[in-house]
Amino acid sequence: EKDGFEHFMLKEIYEQPNAFRKTILNRIDSAGKNIVFEGLQLSSEQIHRLDKIFIIACGTAYHAGLVGKHVIEELTRIPVEVDVASEFRYRRPIVTDKTLVIVVSQSGETADTLAALRESQRLGAKVLAITNVPGSSIARDADEVIATVAGPEIAVASTKAYTSQLIAFYLFGIYLAQVKETIPEEERKVMIEALCKLPEQTEVVLQHANDIRMYAEAIKGHSSLFFIGRGIDYAVALEGSLKLKEISYIHSEAYAAGELKHGTLALIEEGTPVIALATQTELYEKMASNIKEVKARGAHVLGVTLEENIELHRNVDDVCLIPSAMALFTPVLSVIPLQLISYYTSLALGNDVDKPRNLAKSVTVE
Ligand code: F6R
Repeated sequence: EKDGFEHFMLKEIYEQPNAFRKTILNRIDSAGKNIVFEGLQLSSEQIHRLDKIFIIACGTAYHAGLVGKHVIEELTRIPVEVDVASEFRYRRPIVTDKTLVIVVSQSGETADTLAALRESQRLGAKVLAITNVPGSSIARDADEVIATVAGPEIAVASTKAYTSQLIAFYLFGIYLAQVKETIPEEERKVMIEALCKLPEQTEVVLQHANDIRMYAEAIKGHSSLFFIGRGIDYAVALEGSLKLKEISYIHSEAYAAGELKHGTLALIEEGTPVIALATQTELYEKMASNIKEVKARGAHVLGVTLEENIELHRNVDDVCLIPSAMALFTPVLSVIPLQLISYYTSLALGNDVDKPRNLAKSVTVE
């Protein structure tokens, strides 16, 4: 059942290109110009009335939501708020019948996410669920469902479910932009083409898994490390940090790179590993100066950047290149090396990769 892979997690990492293909399948028209969601009842009128979108989830699914915010705001200019389900439900969230609530859950059974869904409906909002399990409680209770088609995810650490959630956000974000006409048709077509290239580009990233194995060997003795990034890269940094903590048990923190000098820099010592995500062309220069800041304090920096960003190569100790992609789409590619780093570090430390201590795959307690 592991198809020759040593662990489910590694198998699931390698299943990502096909999970994306299946999640995209039948959701693009034959001309490659429009997104189609069969079964989606949300009317054009309802979409035009929306004044706010909430994205609610836990853990890794919450991190997918942080990317989703960038995508939806960029493409539609509808304000998006992202919240952790266990926080959302215990404050008085501002939700009305003009709010669309998107809940994100691989299992569709997470207790806090389900409760947040019900609370949102009680407040008059329509709820759209992005889930990997169509028969789940969350899928049943939601008003609308967009299924990710990642297949069963067995490893506790989520990989293909997360990236498939990103694909679902891209499809839905483009769909909203199509209905609201917030991006020109030609631009939409280019985006759809770029989206369809992601499975192949992911295969390219996976071919470099061995270099990452060496990096994992180098960090396994460290007690702490940092992930830094700006904008959408910060969202990916949070996911990379969670993944590493979950299965390697090494402490790490993710920081918005511009925040370093407001406190975190004090923790950087000689040899501290820093993983710097720099995939956003508009933010390269700002990232380069943050990388210099940590290097000046002795950090050992691994840069994750696009292949064309030659400049950054000179400023880092190690580099991990990802294929060129549209700014909103890079998280799908840049998270792969981070998944592999956590996998190989956990493996090198002799941990139970698929069943990390203290954690359950589906959290049905509150
Ligand atoms: C991390 C992880 C958890 C889940 C979280 C939500 O790798 O798997 O953080 O993402 O428990 O689970 P779902 O998506 O099933 O609601």
